[in-house]
Amino acid sequence: MHRRGLEPLTSWSVARYSIQLSYRCSWFIHFAGERLFSQGEIGYDSPMIDWNQQWALHAPNFREGFAHVTLKKNLSFKMVPGPGFGDLSHPTTRLMLAMLPEKIEGTVIDVGCGSGVLSLAAKLLGANDVMGVDIDDKAIEHAKENAKLNSLDCFFGKTLPKVPKNPLILMNMISSEQKVAWKSLPNFEAYTLITSGYPKNEKEPHFDGTLLEKHGLEEWKGYVIRAS
Ligand SMILES: C[S@@+](CC[C@H](N)C(=O)[O-])C[C@H]1O[C@@H](n2cnc3c(N)ncnc32)[C@H](O)[C@@H]1O
Repeated sequence: MHRRGLEPLTSWSVARYSIQLSYRCSWFIHFAGERLFSQGEIGYDSPMIDWNQQWALHAPNFREGFAHVTLKKNLSFKMVPGPGFGDLSHPTTRLMLAMLPEKIEGTVIDVGCGSGVLSLAAKLLGANDVMGVDIDDKAIEHAKENAKLNSLDCFFGKTLPKVPKNPLILMNMISSEQKVAWKSLPNFEAYTLITSGYPKNEKEPHFDGTLLEKHGLEEWKGYVIRAS
């Protein structure tokens, strides 16, 4: 399967993100933060976090109050700052985008949709039906806001509204969270999985299915798997 711009993205981002070293550990900071949020110690509404300021500081292509995402020529969308993970500052989000096929058909399930970035991209790349789920209410609200902003028809919620046949599943989260997330999903007879969230130094994960592709970006790995 042809992947949009994976190689250019790699060299391009190495240069750019070398000046963002302090943000490299954002994955872990984010997840530590998620745990505090979920335990009610800090709310996403907390005045401690100024999302506009955070996104303006870290999101690539941030201008006029929006993060701009270009998938290919004449195909782009924008996102408002908010609590959903996925402002494109993290390599795994960019790796996920780079692993998306040039043209998507059928149904996409975006597990851990965060800001909705992958769902919106999948919809723009042709997916008929896009369903994004997340355990975090604030991320769901944020993803809905981003879909509305771009007039893209995607479902966002805590659970899947229906069980599609043969979906393309997108899952970008660390392996321990992936294990939990899979338990909340129905059993699919067949699916394609595009996944990241695996540090390069982590042992190769076991996947049910055939490993079709393996990619890397900075310190992270990503995989395309076919299960049938
Ligand atoms: C690293 S972010 C990925 C966001 C976005 N998809 C991206 O690629 O940038 C992981 C997301 O998964 C969500 N998440 C964590 N565990 C989950 C679970 N068991 N089920 C659904 N979503 C989960 C988090 O709330 C977070 O929004």
